Amino acid sequence: MEVGVFSTQPYDREPLERANRERGHRLSFLEPRLGPDTAELGAQFEAVCVFVNDRLSRPVLERLCAGKTRLVALRCAGFNNVDLAAARELGLTVVRVPAYSPHAVAEHAVGLILMLNRKLHRAYARVREANFSLAGLCGFDLYGRQVGVLGTGAIGAAFCQIMRGFGCTVVAADPLPNPACLELGVQYVSAAELFQSSDIISLHCPLTAETRHIIGAESLPLMKRGVMIINTGRGALIDSSAVVAALKSGHVGYLGIDVYEEEENLFFRDLSSEIVQDDVFMRLLTFPNVVVTAHQGFFTREALANIADTTIANISAFEHGAGELFRVA
Ligand code: NAI
Repeated sequence: MEVGVFSTQPYDREPLERANRERGHRLSFLEPRLGPDTAELGAQFEAVCVFVNDRLSRPVLERLCAGKTRLVALRCAGFNNVDLAAARELGLTVVRVPAYSPHAVAEHAVGLILMLNRKLHRAYARVREANFSLAGLCGFDLYGRQVGVLGTGAIGAAFCQIMRGFGCTVVAADPLPNPACLELGVQYVSAAELFQSSDIISLHCPLTAETRHIIGAESLPLMKRGVMIINTGRGALIDSSAVVAALKSGHVGYLGIDVYEEEENLFFRDLSSEIVQDDVFMRLLTFPNVVVTAHQGFFTREALANIADTTIANISAFEHGAGELFRVA
């Protein structure tokens, strides 16, 4: 098939070309994001291959559909950036990569916890300036602490397993309890109970109308003073302005985020010589107890290879009407 690969980064090409070697799809690597301004370009391809910050709204899907496009192949797990109802109405097939390496994201979430707790970001900078003082670097034992996990699918379950290994008590909220987590000794509670009793809260649920701003003005007051919040899910799970207020008051003690609700204007680009206009984001960067990474949870060699393999296999399965198709619409 003719495939337009939008939002291509240099590291996307090699794994996709390798996975495609024996399949023979004609891949066109395009740097721009797919959105209203580039839908015309997308409409020239039978399939568009997109990532987390491409925007497939109804008008974009309508434009694609009016052209040659029949397949939207997401090379990621989340699909909150596609209007699925519109895709169904238009008869467009949407596929994704459901689980390419849950460990990659879970391990990154744990990295954020360790960094914030033991203040490794500050220690690193200090030691490089020959400042060997420990003042302000005191952390806490993770052993025995309660971790609350919102969403125990593939990534949440991998995260639960690691935190159980640290000797943490793990509670979780998920409408579909995961038997693997129950076996690990994870206790399922309501989201409100999880917020009230956890020392660390980690978000691993998809972004939906129900979970949008699940961390916000309503839930933050329920939490323990000094709580640590980790978000490697999707940015809009957190109401950023509400969390800035809670950081300023000291109610939130630590924030580690790999995703941000307005990240599409920021992440995956070098803006180091530009003036960033997002004041909420820039305020977040000023807190000593906030660590931000730019959506790199998925970014391991294993995950990139799996993403490429499943994406190309999805495209082939669609083309030939045979083989497993990881369909979301
Ligand atoms: P999954 O589909 O395996 O698991 C999601 C779980 O969330 C399911 O068990 C589901 O029942 C649960 N859930 C749904 N609504 C919920 C709610 N209201 N409250 C609590 N739980 C709820 O998905 P997976 O692979 O574990 O990924 C989770 C999310 O992580 C993705 O939707 C995506 O947004 C994000 N992600 C982030 C990456 C990164 O690089 N930072 C990479 C991959 C995924």
